[in-house]
Amino acid sequence: MYVCLCQGVTDGQIREAIYEGCCSYRDVRENLGVGTQCGKCACLAKQVVRETLGEV
Ligand code: FES
Repeated sequence: MYVCLCQGVTDGQIREAIYEGCCSYRDVRENLGVGTQCGKCACLAKQVVRETLGEV
């Protein structure tokens, strides 16, 4: 599912970024550009990051 429509970023991509070494929402944002335009996705994106970090 798309988390960030502006940048076309899916929750799968966010998970992947974390498995590949991102360890915070900030890292993910810098890597994928999620939340860098309208910012509406920030809340959901943070949630996906938190959930994924809890799994790894
Ligand atoms: Fe992510 Fe707009 S939906 S910045």
